[in-house]
Amino acid sequence: MRLRLLDLGSYLGDKQRNLYEGLSAMSCFHRVSLGFFIGLCVLYQCSALEVDTNQTAWLFVNASEASGRKIPDTLFGIFFEEINHAGAGGLWAELVSNRGFEAGGPNTPSNIDPWSIIGDDSSVIVSTDRSSCFDRNKIALRMEVLCDTYGTNVCPDGGVGVYNPGFWGMNVEQGKQYKVVLYIRSLQSVNISVSLTGSNGFQTLATANIVAADVSNWTKTEILLEAKETNHNARLQLTTSRKGVVWFDQVSAMPLDTYKGHGFRNDLFGMLADLKPRFIRFPGGCFVEGEWLRNAFRWKETIGPWEERPGHFGDVWLYWTDEGLGYFEFLQLAEDLGADPIWVVNNGISHNDEVDTSSIFPFLQEILDSLEFAKGAPDSAWGSVRAAMGHPEPFDLRYVAVGNEDCGKKNYRGNYLKFYYAIKQAYPDIKVISNCDGSTRQLDHPTDFYDFHIYSDANTVFSMAHTFDHASRSGPKAFVSEYAVWKQDAGTGSLLAALAEAGFLIGVERNSDVVEMASYAPLFVNANDRRWNPDAIVFNSYQVYGTPSFWMQRFFSESSGGILLNSTLQANSSSLLIASAIIWKNSDNKNYLRIKIVNFGSNFVNLKISIDGLKPSSFQSLGSTRTVLTSSNLMDENSFKEPNKVAPIKSLLEKADKNIEDVLPPHSFTSFDLPIVSTELWIPGTDSSSKSSI
Ligand code: AHR
Repeated sequence: MRLRLLDLGSYLGDKQRNLYEGLSAMSCFHRVSLGFFIGLCVLYQCSALEVDTNQTAWLFVNASEASGRKIPDTLFGIFFEEINHAGAGGLWAELVSNRGFEAGGPNTPSNIDPWSIIGDDSSVIVSTDRSSCFDRNKIALRMEVLCDTYGTNVCPDGGVGVYNPGFWGMNVEQGKQYKVVLYIRSLQSVNISVSLTGSNGFQTLATANIVAADVSNWTKTEILLEAKETNHNARLQLTTSRKGVVWFDQVSAMPLDTYKGHGFRNDLFGMLADLKPRFIRFPGGCFVEGEWLRNAFRWKETIGPWEERPGHFGDVWLYWTDEGLGYFEFLQLAEDLGADPIWVVNNGISHNDEVDTSSIFPFLQEILDSLEFAKGAPDSAWGSVRAAMGHPEPFDLRYVAVGNEDCGKKNYRGNYLKFYYAIKQAYPDIKVISNCDGSTRQLDHPTDFYDFHIYSDANTVFSMAHTFDHASRSGPKAFVSEYAVWKQDAGTGSLLAALAEAGFLIGVERNSDVVEMASYAPLFVNANDRRWNPDAIVFNSYQVYGTPSFWMQRFFSESSGGILLNSTLQANSSSLLIASAIIWKNSDNKNYLRIKIVNFGSNFVNLKISIDGLKPSSFQSLGSTRTVLTSSNLMDENSFKEPNKVAPIKSLLEKADKNIEDVLPPHSFTSFDLPIVSTELWIPGTDSSSKSSI
C-alpha cells in the first residue's frame, strides 16, 4: 500500500518534495540506491556524512485488546508555574502591572514602576504614602497637581497624571470592552480622564471622565471603556487639568472578553485546552519555595477580593505579582480545563532557609486550611470564603505535592512526614506526592507518588525512554512533573528538543503502568521576560505560538485513558527509532488506532507497519491520516514571524489496512491515525471474532 503525499510541499521545498515523493515510490519497490540518498541529503540539508545506508524498519502492532493495557486517565497534563510572566502579564488578563503600587515595597518612598508620570516637576508631583484603605497593602499613589485650567500655571493639553504601560504594552482591540476599576480620594472635587491610549499617549483608543464632587473618603469607581481602534502596545492613563491633590490605589483594567469571564486570556487558555490536559500542577516549581521563605507563595494572601490581595515579589524569578491569579483562580482554571488540580505546597523549605520540623505546625495548618478552602463545605470556616468568592461547590482537589525539589534538604523528610500524616488523616482521598525519586531505589517514607524532574541534552532525554523500564512496579507511582530538553540543543524551542522529548514520552507511555502523570516544563513564556528557555508556549501582549515541544505534546494528549498496544520495532539499526501504538476513543465514542514513531536519526527510514488482531473490515480508509512533524533543519524554531515553521502536517492515507508502508524523513515524528470501525479481535485463518470493550 502506498501513501498519498498531499501536504508535504508545505514543509519541504518543491525540489525536496519531488525527491521525497520519488523516494517514497522507490521504497515501495525496494529500489533505493546509495547515490540517490547522498544527492537527496545534500538538498535536504541533513548531515550527508551520516547518510550512508538506507534503513528499513518493521513495526508489528498487535491491536487486539488482549495485548493492550489501559493507560492511566491522568497520564498527560500540564505544569503551570508563575515563571516568565506566565500568569501576571500572561494567562491572567489583567492589563495593569503593579495595580496597587505595592511592587516597590511596603515602605515609602516606594518605586512605582512601571507607572510613569505625565507632566514635569512644574505641573505635577507624584509620590507614595501609606494612606490606602486596604490594610494588607497600604501604599497609595499621591498626585499633587500644580497646574490648573486657568491662571499662571496652565496644565499642558491633555492634562497631567500617570500612565501604566501594562506588561510590555497592553493589547487593546477595536470593539472590545475593558472594565477599569480604581480607588480615588481627594479633598477637592475631581475631574479625571481615564483613557486607553497608544504607547506615547497621542492615539486615544477609549476615554471616559470621572467627575465627582465628594471623594473625601476612598471611593471605588468603575468605568467601562470600549476601544474604537486597535493598538497592541497601549497604555492606561489617569490625567487631569485640575489643581489639587488626588490619591489613587488599586487600579485595574480587565478585558471583559476572557474565558467564561473567569479572567483567563482567551488565546492562551485555548492553547492549554488544545493540550487536553488531564491535570494541572500549580503554582510552581521554585516559585512555591522562594529563594527565601519570606518570599514564597502564600495562598491566603491570594484569595478574596483582588483589591485586598497584597501581592508579592517572587524572588526566584525576580518579578512582582499582584496575585490576580491566586489560589482560587488556579482551582477555577483546573475546573475550566477539566483537569485535576495538583497543588504544590511549601513545606517550610525555600532555596536558602528551612523551618525546623519541631516548628512546622503553622506551615502545616496553612495547608490544611487550603484543603478546607478547596474541599470544605460552604459553611466551613475556609469553605465559606470560597463560597463567598462565587464557588459554593467544593473543587475536586485530590493531589498535593509536598515541596518542590527539596528531597535532599535537611528538614525535608521530617517536614514531609508531618504533612503526609496530617493530610491523610484529614483527607484520606488525597494522594500525596514526595519530592524524593523512587525510580531507582525504594523510598524510606510513605507516599502515593514520587516526583521526577529531568532537564538535559537531547541525546540524554531521548535515551531516557528506558528510564522507567526497571523502576519498581510495587512501590509508589512516578509523576514526571517536569521534563524538557534544554540549553544548546533546545535554544528557545527547537525541533531537536521536541523529537528527543517525543522519544522520552513514548517511553513514558510504555511504562505507564508505573508512570501515572507527566508534564513538560515550563509551560509559558512572555517573550519580553525570558527567565527560562525553552518553554512550550510563547506569547506577547497579543500573539502566541507553540514551540515544537508544544506540538509534540499534542500528539500525546489522546493517550491519557487510551489502550497501549503491544508493538515491536525491528530495524537494522533501531536505536534511533522508537514507536508506540494506542487505541483511543474520541468524544463521539469512535475508536482510533494511533501509531507514533520518532526517527531521531539523520537517515530516511523505510517503515513497514503490520497490524494484527483486527478484522480487515475494521479498517476504514476514509479519515485515515498520517501527520508529520519535521523541518529542514534540526534546530529550526517557531517565532512570531513564522509561528508554524515547525508544525504538524497532516495528509490523507489513500488506503488504510493491516499493512502500511511509508518513508520516515530524517529527524521526524510521524503519527498514523486510523479510525477503527470496532475493535474486533481477528484470529487469522478463522472467521471468528470477539468484541472488545474499550
Ligand atoms: O521549570 C523551571 C524550574 O525548574 C522549576 O521551577 C523547578 O522546579 C525546576 O528546577
